[in-house]
Amino acid sequence: MTAIDYQSKIPNNVDLNSDRRLQRALEHWQPRFLAWWNDMGPEGFQSKDCYLRTAVSADKEGWAHFDYVRMPDYRWGIFLADREPGRKVPFGDHYGEAAWQDVPGEFRTALRRIIVTQGDTEPASVEQQRNLGLTAPSLYDLRNLFQVNVEEARHLWAMVYLLQSYFGSEGRDEAEELLARRAGDADKPRILDAFNQPCNDWLSFFCFTMFADRDGKFQLGALAESGFDPLARTCRFMLTEEAHHMFVGDTGLERILRRSAQLTAQDPNGDARAQGGIDLMTIQKYINYWFSYCLDLFGSEVSTNAADWFGAGLKGRFGEEKRFTEHTALNQTRSLELIRDGQLSSHEVELRLAMNEILRDDYIDDCVNAIRRWNKALSAEGIDFQLELPSRRFHRRQGTYAAAHFDPRGELVSEAEFERNRTAWLPVDADRQYLESIMKPVFGVGQIANWIAPPKRGINDNEFAYEYVRL
Ligand SMILES: [Fe+2]
Ligand SMILES: [Fe+2]
Repeated sequence: MTAIDYQSKIPNNVDLNSDRRLQRALEHWQPRFLAWWNDMGPEGFQSKDCYLRTAVSADKEGWAHFDYVRMPDYRWGIFLADREPGRKVPFGDHYGEAAWQDVPGEFRTALRRIIVTQGDTEPASVEQQRNLGLTAPSLYDLRNLFQVNVEEARHLWAMVYLLQSYFGSEGRDEAEELLARRAGDADKPRILDAFNQPCNDWLSFFCFTMFADRDGKFQLGALAESGFDPLARTCRFMLTEEAHHMFVGDTGLERILRRSAQLTAQDPNGDARAQGGIDLMTIQKYINYWFSYCLDLFGSEVSTNAADWFGAGLKGRFGEEKRFTEHTALNQTRSLELIRDGQLSSHEVELRLAMNEILRDDYIDDCVNAIRRWNKALSAEGIDFQLELPSRRFHRRQGTYAAAHFDPRGELVSEAEFERNRTAWLPVDADRQYLESIMKPVFGVGQIANWIAPPKRGINDNEFAYEYVRL
């Protein structure tokens, strides 16, 4: 395990001291990053002490250290998982060759694009979530929000490290651009659509960390297999942080669902809203919305880019080395339902062309499991309501299914029918306004908003009733 050097201006475990040129470039970028953080980071709490974890080593065990820190003093830095001696390219046309420690010339453009696209999502999410602290349902949730935010900002550092180390002046320009785009901005939006959507209430935040951060898990998992070794090692370490983000979303939704079930049962008319809670249909609509937006993040069902990146050894399947035995993906096909002439029909496509869909399958499996667990929680509360994960075809704006309309079960419907049902399937302004009306900050130690259940345990073996943020 490579120890993290916290004495340097930029904490790192990549021996930054030995590379003056890179160190200077990153030290030049650091104040710009901090200016961005102060501008676009969490609104209103920058001078408060927050109980946050910081990485102290990059191995699996015990890498986290918990202490109070003001967010602008968080030690953002560059942490890579350890190098695996003798690592080989684990898939594609270069299968079995030594993994690359430098960028192969012919893949330079593709790799830059992959890293910039991933990197752009990290600051975007911080921007989307910047006002949520003002309405946090508890100090525990406030702290979790800030933990996610500082780590997403660190993921930006991780991608900027790769750009600045391996892509020369182009990489430095891209690093500046990552600080210049803004989530939801009309002129300079973030690259991917889901990262331009507003995220102004906590139901959206938990859906976001459940569904968008889970997209991150699968994208990073696919890049953790990359033949470009520095990218693989960077993503491996990011995945350890990502787990907590998904935990926040998954348990946050479960806590809302349990509380909603209780309030539904408690109300004479079974109306959770009458009790100041969130009704289960509204939660279903938010799941429909965020799940469908996040499916778009995987790209087109049939994709020559995905095929090229797999062939080149840049982006593999999730768990490529461990879960698959055949690593070329040649001479195999995959059956896909595609829209042709306005109708669904089955097509056999070359396996490499279907790599986006294969990654999307794994993502959907993960989401199906979560829905199953949440439904168990609802049953345990004695409520007769079950959530459903919408079909992958529902409400898509990218890929083959964007060319038609589908109901949440995945049946083809006319545009008119989709529009007639829109208010039942997707959040409407009235839902957003209602959520806004109940989202009031609850900042007392051990206190919690009415619309959500407290967590079963606190952070780092502390109780829920702990002063996670000193206000
Ligand atoms: Fe991230
Ligand atoms: Fe994340």
